[in-house]
Amino acid sequence: MRPEIEEISASFKKELKEVKTLKEVEGLEVNYLGRKGPMQALMPLLKSVSPEERPLLGKAINDLKEFITLQLAESKDRLLLAEENNRLKEERLDVTLPGRPRSLGNTHPLQSTLDRILDIFIEMGFSVQLGPDIDTDYYNFEVLNFPPDHPARDMQDTFYLEGNYLLRTHTSNVQARVMEANRPPIRVVSPGKTYRNETITARSHVVFHQIEGFYVDKGVTYADFVSTFDAFLGKLFHQGIKTRYRTSYFPFVEPGLEVDVSCLHCHGKGCNICKYSGWLEIAGAGMIHPEVLKNTGIDPEIYSGFAWGMGVARLLMIERGIPDIRLFFDNDDRFLRQF
Ligand code: PHE
Repeated sequence: MRPEIEEISASFKKELKEVKTLKEVEGLEVNYLGRKGPMQALMPLLKSVSPEERPLLGKAINDLKEFITLQLAESKDRLLLAEENNRLKEERLDVTLPGRPRSLGNTHPLQSTLDRILDIFIEMGFSVQLGPDIDTDYYNFEVLNFPPDHPARDMQDTFYLEGNYLLRTHTSNVQARVMEANRPPIRVVSPGKTYRNETITARSHVVFHQIEGFYVDKGVTYADFVSTFDAFLGKLFHQGIKTRYRTSYFPFVEPGLEVDVSCLHCHGKGCNICKYSGWLEIAGAGMIHPEVLKNTGIDPEIYSGFAWGMGVARLLMIERGIPDIRLFFDNDDRFLRQF
C-alpha cells in the first residue's frame, strides 16, 4: 500500500478516537472528505502512476473513502444515542416522590351546631320553616306588638333599606308569617341569619345566626315550655344540666323570659367563662302575647303558645369556651379544623 494512503488512514483513526461530540465528528468529516481534504489531494497521484498501477491505487483510495465514511457514520450514531440518553436522564421525573397533600374541608362549626339543634327539635315533632332575611317593618316589628314608636325597637339597632324594608333583626319575623299561613297545632323551628347595626366586637357581630321556635295549640302552658326546653337542653348538653328561667321583657311575649343553663365549664362554681355567676344565658323566650295571636287571626281565648329565640354562635361559644364571635367569620383554617 502507498505510504500516502497509509498516512491518511493512520491519522484519521487517531483523530477519530479523540472526538467526543457530534460537532467534532462533523468537523472531521469536512476535513477528510471535503474538497480541500487529503483524499482530494490523492487525485493528482492517481494521474502520476502507471496505467497498470492505476486501478489498484483507485481501489485503495475508494476503500479508504468508504472506511472513513462508515467510521464517521458509526461515531455519529454512537454520539447521538449518548446525547439522547443524557437528555432522558436529565428529564426523568421521580415518580416515587410523595405528592402534596390536600386538606379536606369540613362542615362549618355553626352549621354543625345548627344541625344538632334542629335534629333534637325535629325528633320532638317540630318542622323546619325558613323566613326572608329582607322583610318589612310589619313582620319584624309591628305584628309582634312593637307599636310604631315603642322604645323596644331600640333594643335592636336596625339596618333599614329603601321602601318599607329592613334586614330582619331577629328570626321572630317568621312567627307571624307561619301563624298566618297555618292553623294550630303549629310546631315550627326556623333557623337563619339576622342583622343588627352594632359595633363588631368579641361578643357581637352585625350578622349572626338565630334559631326561632314556637308552639301554638289549645292549652299550651308555661310548664309545657319549661319541660320542652329542659328536654332540649338536656339532649344538647347533658342530662342533669341545671336550667333557670328568669323574667325578662320582649313585646311579643307575656310573660317574657330569659333562659340560663348552669355553666358547662365550672358546673356553677364560677369561672371566667360564666363571669363567676355560675350561669350562662342561652335564649330569650316567653308565652306568645295574645296581641300577636290576634294579629295573625288566631283566637287567644282558644289557643296559646310559647316561643323562643337563641343565637347559634353564642351557644357554641358557651359550650366550647370560644372567646370571640369573629372567629366564626374569619375563615381561619386553624380555627375551623378543630371542629
Ligand atoms: N327575638 C328575640 C331576640 O332576638 C328572642 C325571642 C324570641 C324572645 C322569641 C322571645 C320569644 O332577642
